[in-house]
Amino acid sequence: MYYKTNPIFPKDFMWGASSAAWQVEGAVAEGGRTPAIIDLNSKKKKPFADNSIAADHYHHYKEDVQLMAECGFSSYRFSISWSRIIPHEDGEVNPEGIKFYNDLINELLKNNITPIVTLYHYDMPVWVDEMCGGWRNRTVIDAFDHYVRVCFKAFGDRVKYWLSINEQNMQICYGNWLGIDKGCDDWEKEKWKINHIMNLCHAKAVIACHELVDGGKIGPVPGYVPIYPESCKPEDQIAAMNAEELTEKVWNDLYVHREYNGFIKKYWEDNNIDPDIRPGDMELIKEAKIDFFALNCYRSNVAKDCKPEEEYLELQLNKNGVKGQFIYPKYPGVYQLAANPNVETTDWDWEIDPIAMRYMLRYMWDHYQLPMMITENGYGAHESLGEDGCVHDEERINFLRDQIYQVGLAIMDGCEVISYNLWSFTDLLSTGNGMAKRYGLVYVNTTDEDVLDLRRIKKDSFYWYSKLIKSNGKEW
Ligand code: BG6
Repeated sequence: MYYKTNPIFPKDFMWGASSAAWQVEGAVAEGGRTPAIIDLNSKKKKPFADNSIAADHYHHYKEDVQLMAECGFSSYRFSISWSRIIPHEDGEVNPEGIKFYNDLINELLKNNITPIVTLYHYDMPVWVDEMCGGWRNRTVIDAFDHYVRVCFKAFGDRVKYWLSINEQNMQICYGNWLGIDKGCDDWEKEKWKINHIMNLCHAKAVIACHELVDGGKIGPVPGYVPIYPESCKPEDQIAAMNAEELTEKVWNDLYVHREYNGFIKKYWEDNNIDPDIRPGDMELIKEAKIDFFALNCYRSNVAKDCKPEEEYLELQLNKNGVKGQFIYPKYPGVYQLAANPNVETTDWDWEIDPIAMRYMLRYMWDHYQLPMMITENGYGAHESLGEDGCVHDEERINFLRDQIYQVGLAIMDGCEVISYNLWSFTDLLSTGNGMAKRYGLVYVNTTDEDVLDLRRIKKDSFYWYSKLIKSNGKEW
């Protein structure tokens, strides 16, 4: 559909940005926090900085919230660090951890910024891992339930939007990148057991939120990458559908319909996979009715037919930001991914495809009819301070303008979207490229090699976004 006017955003639309505790906070050994597995992982990603300091938001949160307010934010999505709240196996609550998030939440509310809080964003505490093997063991379910209940009780009087697990689908699809395949002998089979345990944890969080938070709403956070067929060959369309199932739909169907879909049950049967579903599990999942979808969307993919006799090829992410490193995988008899000649890419080979945003919102709305919020979307780039002491991030502005415009078009198409939160407000640690891949509207003065003064410097995109959101999406 084409429209004669620019998109119109709803009056109470929330505009903001997004972060994750381990990527923004730093202060990993302060305030009673104990290590998370991702801390250890990030140390292995040399020559990039690890997460011990990151953007040092732990010490700069007041200044950061002031800058958000100056920018005109009405929402901020951040995550709570599990090991800051519950640092040890004894399950005791850490008052310093509670205080940090209380202070942050109160500071946001004082500035009329609605907190949107993720319970789990990749940071499994080491103590949980040592106690039971983390997501690999069902013991984690009670530990997670205890942790989320502590959060709901401590913050639920002020936080009404909650998110369960960030990108469960991506954690299962890229187990190696995010480190959750640790300790698994046969990841392809074991990942479905782990996924089932994560589904049970998600369900526990949804149920507890509704029980403990007056007026609380909760949703999952899928990482969504629209998948287009490479051509109009019917085989390519089926390949795209296979990819969509195995990277996204299996999860989204489960969250909404609260049962595994027919595709995945047949896939398990054909591949001799036992996800270890026990009596009572599906009843628990059935109880967990979500209120909305939080969606992370950065790029799109292309799929094409992959004959059974093709050779398996493993997906390789671009790990250093030099274009052309991404390896498109082949899954014989299922699908393969391919480059899209119609779109540009970032230095990390991520497709720059604003229409993917509208596609995603339309797809999710058509399939599930639940309100949606964007919790991540952004442009990762190599950046440093210019000679004038500024960062002129024209490319980021263009990226964001095009993407947000498509959010607006999806709203015009009839999709219910309540909030847009870009990744990220300040620069923060990327999952694999430290400070070399920056996303922020605000530059943080530090590098992978040296910790500098961590000064906050507004980039051009800060001023552009501020104008856009203060006009509720009128001044592009
Ligand atoms: C999202 C994650 O998938 O992508 C974030 O939720 C992550 O944690 C973001 O930082 C961008 O990815 P990267 O690898 O560029 O940091």
